[in-house]
Amino acid sequence: MFKRQPTQIIAHRGSKGTRPENTLLAFQAALDAGADGIETDVQFSKDQQLVIMHDERVDRTTNGTGLVQDQTLAELKRLDAGSHFGSEFAGTKIPTLDEVIQLLIRDEFTGVFNLELKTNKIHYDGIEQALADYFTRQPVPFRLVFSSFRAQSIITLRSLYPQAEYAKLFKTAGRQARRMQRQHLVGGLHPDIRWVKAHRFWLPHVQLRPWTVNSPADMAYCLRHHFAGLITDYPARAVALRTKIQG
Ligand code: G3P
Ligand code: MG
Repeated sequence: MFKRQPTQIIAHRGSKGTRPENTLLAFQAALDAGADGIETDVQFSKDQQLVIMHDERVDRTTNGTGLVQDQTLAELKRLDAGSHFGSEFAGTKIPTLDEVIQLLIRDEFTGVFNLELKTNKIHYDGIEQALADYFTRQPVPFRLVFSSFRAQSIITLRSLYPQAEYAKLFKTAGRQARRMQRQHLVGGLHPDIRWVKAHRFWLPHVQLRPWTVNSPADMAYCLRHHFAGLITDYPARAVALRTKIQG
């Protein structure tokens, strides 16, 4: 009998709810929780290294100040990216993309690695080429899904690295995302969960992975509709609820 695929549980910035976001600790916790996927954010340092950070500034999540793009990798590596979450995480570093990839390879991860290009506020000239070069040098044994709020980043990287999967992120601009999906520029849509619920949006052939799905009610909504995935700060809770709802 036809059995639908289980909804993939994708850990937002690692296990953001339980560890300092976008650190190796957060990614390890996501793996330990049994997450099927990991979502994270990539930017350029001043010396054009691929670093894992959500905000364009370091202020909220580290003991430093200023823009990521104004600091070299060596300078970023001197910052404490753990203490903001709890004193027991003091000394945790900002990881590079390569450090995350090597962790996943060591862990024999075979799920979905969703890398968000944080290019909507700062465009980071050349970041798409740097990513294509990186993944050409470093093939990975897991699914690679690139996403971005910025359509042009998706179009550029897709032309350089067509072997990956692509998804359009959006909060409210559903029409643009749907157009990109109909044109086969992306296979996936990554909307704000509030947009999904407001529009009662569901199409079986679209890879829908909403964010940030943290409440039990929102998790249950995604699981009952059998969305392709859900992106959550609490992967362990979502994995447990999936067992109840999807078996
Ligand atoms: O990729 C899903 C989600 O991460 C998008 O928003 O701001 O958390 O990167 P943000
Ligand atoms: Mg993100």
